Amino acid sequence: MENYDVIDLIKNKYLSNHKENTLRHVEDVADTAVWLAKLYNLDIEKVKLAALLHDISAIMTPQEMYKFATARGLKIDAAEEKYHFLLHQRISKIIAQEDFDISDSDILDAIECHTTLKKNASIYDKVIFIADKISWDQKGVPPYYDFLKSKVVESLDEACCFYIKYQFDNNLLLMPHQWIIEAYEDLRNA
Ligand SMILES: [Fe+2]
Ligand SMILES: [Fe+2]
Repeated sequence: MENYDVIDLIKNKYLSNHKENTLRHVEDVADTAVWLAKLYNLDIEKVKLAALLHDISAIMTPQEMYKFATARGLKIDAAEEKYHFLLHQRISKIIAQEDFDISDSDILDAIECHTTLKKNASIYDKVIFIADKISWDQKGVPPYYDFLKSKVVESLDEACCFYIKYQFDNNLLLMPHQWIIEAYEDLRNA
């Protein structure tokens, strides 16, 4: 499949599931991720696909995600057990593989850890993680927004570390997922 075909298929998947807002969000993330990819000399097509697919599991409810994950035998984190929505990053990866034939590990890994990051994250993982946070899709603008946006130009690691620290310091995580705990340890010791 050519990339432009895949992009149309991805967009149609959101639209046919009435996920117009999610499509708007992932397109926003794609724009930010492309900006970052140019800044850090990454493959533009890869970040575009990762960004467009990162929330594709929005076509499922959290309950459906949980059912899907247990049926597939995924090892479920305590945070995912309590908040099924936290599974959405891992399920988006599976949908990207199975429904859109994505096999590139830079793309798949970045989708899989876009909410929590993880230890030894790649530059693609960090770009999608931060692009998602900069493309804020809730009401209002978070207080760290401008700082994060300027920080990311200097250092992706520092931007990721700052964002995660902010989440921990302000108790914004419903229940920390093991991956974000490990990502934070990793970045703090870098
Ligand atoms: Fe997400
Ligand atoms: Fe997102």
